[in-house]
Amino acid sequence: MNEVIRPGADNPPLAQNQAQEGPELSVIVPTFNERDNVTVLYRRLEATLANVAWEVVFVDDNSPDGTWDVVRELAQKDSRVRCVRRIGRRGLSGACIEGILASSAPFVAVIDADLQHDETQLPKMLLLLASDQADLVVGSRYIEGYKTEGFNKQRAGASALATELARKALRVEIADPMSGFFMIRRDRFEQLAPKLSVHGFKILLDVVASSNGTLRAVEIPYTFGERQHGESKLDSMVALDFLGLVLAKFTNDAVSLRFVLFAMVGGIGLVVHLTTLFIALQIFKAPFAEAQAAGALVAMTGNFILNNFLTYRDQRLKGFGLLRGLIAFYIVCSVGLLANVGVAFSVYDQEPIWWLAGLAGALMGVVWNYAMSGLFVWRKK
Ligand code: GDD
Ligand code: MN
Repeated sequence: MNEVIRPGADNPPLAQNQAQEGPELSVIVPTFNERDNVTVLYRRLEATLANVAWEVVFVDDNSPDGTWDVVRELAQKDSRVRCVRRIGRRGLSGACIEGILASSAPFVAVIDADLQHDETQLPKMLLLLASDQADLVVGSRYIEGYKTEGFNKQRAGASALATELARKALRVEIADPMSGFFMIRRDRFEQLAPKLSVHGFKILLDVVASSNGTLRAVEIPYTFGERQHGESKLDSMVALDFLGLVLAKFTNDAVSLRFVLFAMVGGIGLVVHLTTLFIALQIFKAPFAEAQAAGALVAMTGNFILNNFLTYRDQRLKGFGLLRGLIAFYIVCSVGLLANVGVAFSVYDQEPIWWLAGLAGALMGVVWNYAMSGLFVWRKK
């Protein structure tokens, strides 16, 4: 039979019930389908941070493999472990931001769950921050002493190009602004948090670009290892996503990252439209009206798919919702086209400059389509 144990002469109250001092370091780990990695990472953190008061916050976007369940089990045994399970949301940057804001230590680190980052660098990173030699320490794959194991050649090339672009366009001075492994002072992060985009993957780039050069950053090299279990979630959309972030930051956040992505997809749609029109006219010898209609239909469908994969990937439509969304998107875009032509006409009427009128119409169209898509196609649940 189970006995209820009460504190008393024989059973003094458990020391664990008493408040203890808070941690000095909060480690934030974004996870999506990392069931087989989280326990290993936890053990490694425990080993490497033996002399530090630390806590770890896993931020899991309701992984189908039940990662959150494994984390809860760990948390039951060790109160330094916590789990934020997010439902109905997706996104690496958003998960990191939420995890940082849900923790309390004066220093916070972000590290991937898949063991590709070298957690043994954490004490060194902490020392640099705690001794006030830096506000931000980045685990860098690009400086001397850096090696890559888990990086294929193509990806390394694309990553180097993207890094160059970010450095030029945003005057971001650090060598590896794409890194997902860094540690930062909490007070500095909390200052910047309202400026950060929750969409996208590149939280560090966002932090550095938003700080306008006010962060004292130090980089330390580490070996980017092989992924242990599961697979990478960063697909080919990452490149477009990245371009969007650079553009959004370039406008000093006058427009949101989502709008930039939507407009980029619109630009791609224009190319698709013209290509279809050309093929229909030249190869299929279709009459102009039919060819133009085909171009519009193909472009709208393509835009819908791209937006669903990129711009609104955190609210991706599936199954029947996909069909409903497509039809709503056709309607939204058709009205948008009317608005586009209307505005272009009235501008042309006042100022007969063809490109100005065209541009004004296109701008009207994309703003309309964006606003209405948010209301009727990818509605927030
Ligand atoms: N909560 C949450 N939500 N976590 C996510 C999501 C998401 O939507 N997508 C990915 N993650 C988690 C993964 O579970 C993993 O712990 C970490 O974020 C990195 O994801 P990977 O899928 O392993 O990314 P990667 O290895 O391809 O990319 C790495 O290198 C990039 C630089 O090229 C990461 O370190 C990136 O942060 C880094 O930018
Ligand atoms: Mn990875």
